Amino acid sequence: MLSGKNIVVGVTGGIAAYKAADVVSRLKKQGANVYVIMTEHSTKFVQPLTFQSISQNYVVTDMFEDPKTWDVEHISLAKRADLFLIVPATANIIGKVANGIADDMLTTTLMATLAPVYFALAMNTKMYENRIMQSNVKKLTDYGYQMILPESGRLACGDVGAGKLANPELIVQTVIDHFARPKPLSGKRILITAGPTREAIDPVRYITNHSSGKMGYAIAEKAVSQGAQVTLISGPTQLTPPVGVHYIPVVSTKDMFDAVMENLDVDVIIKAAAPADYKVVNYSSEKIKKNDAVMSMDFEKNPDILKRVGELKKHQILVGFAAETQNVEAYAKKKLIEKNLDFIVANDVTVKNAGFDVDTNIVTIYDKNGKTDAYDCMEKSEVALIILDKVAQKLQEK
Ligand code: CTP
Repeated sequence: MLSGKNIVVGVTGGIAAYKAADVVSRLKKQGANVYVIMTEHSTKFVQPLTFQSISQNYVVTDMFEDPKTWDVEHISLAKRADLFLIVPATANIIGKVANGIADDMLTTTLMATLAPVYFALAMNTKMYENRIMQSNVKKLTDYGYQMILPESGRLACGDVGAGKLANPELIVQTVIDHFARPKPLSGKRILITAGPTREAIDPVRYITNHSSGKMGYAIAEKAVSQGAQVTLISGPTQLTPPVGVHYIPVVSTKDMFDAVMENLDVDVIIKAAAPADYKVVNYSSEKIKKNDAVMSMDFEKNPDILKRVGELKKHQILVGFAAETQNVEAYAKKKLIEKNLDFIVANDVTVKNAGFDVDTNIVTIYDKNGKTDAYDCMEKSEVALIILDKVAQKLQEK
């Protein structure tokens, strides 16, 4: 199942290091070429010879040693790898990689590779729960690194809780699944916007809308699992960015406009966000005090991000949304043309199960080639798959 795949296994210094031998053995049985890099600490737990015998490849332990049979530099392994698997991944390696430290063979190779990287976490429960460690994990997942989470159980140190290395069988299955998944968007770069934006009135108040961001986040998650490199530009939401996306948080429509303009060099742009169309003319740097009478406020227009992208686009597939309360078809088709889109996903937000902040949607997709597809109520994750199917089809037609 893994025949011909080059898998680099990084072994770090934890009690579970001996289990990495089982993982390497299972990878070999699946037909993979396995190259092991050991950190200095890990060699205190297991002898390099063990991995050398199982992998049948020279084990790299120190970047300054003579090349021996190995063809030198960390760069060659970084290039050769189809996948990196760090097992066990200690808090130390997570902290180093998350903070850009490259001071040994494993960390330099990891920094130099473009291959997907999986960390099979294993450490003491308290270390695992430590907020620095958790924020390092989050940082890495935001950058697109994958985590194989630890199991709960009795640890070598006697503590009971999460931190036990996942079962070697499951670790190897994760690697197999990685290569088995059909990936229609493999290598494609997709920019997705999501959520509402906020326009400040004074230091304590703002205007916004009911967008939850759920549709855009669902598309981002599915696009990652279909192999795309995803940049998610999102206004403030309650959601956690999906694992593996490059996440850019923004607040105002102007912020979102700037972030989109800086990230236009992609294959596909999907604008699921609901940016505020207006901002207040006179932002008050002091809190506005209440008065007895009616209050009025002037608003000026924000840039229409999608329209601008439609003017600038070259090869990109451009997908827009239309959230309407009336004349859905007419308004959606108008936006499709005026914003120069490939297709538009329209929904009537007044209909039950199709509005803001729910997990479902009822959409109709209007294509620039005149085709219309109307769908029943479905989960936003299913809508995401339909949108990405259409995107994949458009990319193929190019
Ligand atoms: N959009 C945008 N920038 C804006 C407003 C909207 O990029 N300032 C995008 C949205 O992300 C969506 C599409 O345009 O993909 C349609 O948004 P929608 O709010 O339905 O319509 P508007 O274009 O704002 O028009 P109107 O408010 O008149 O319905």
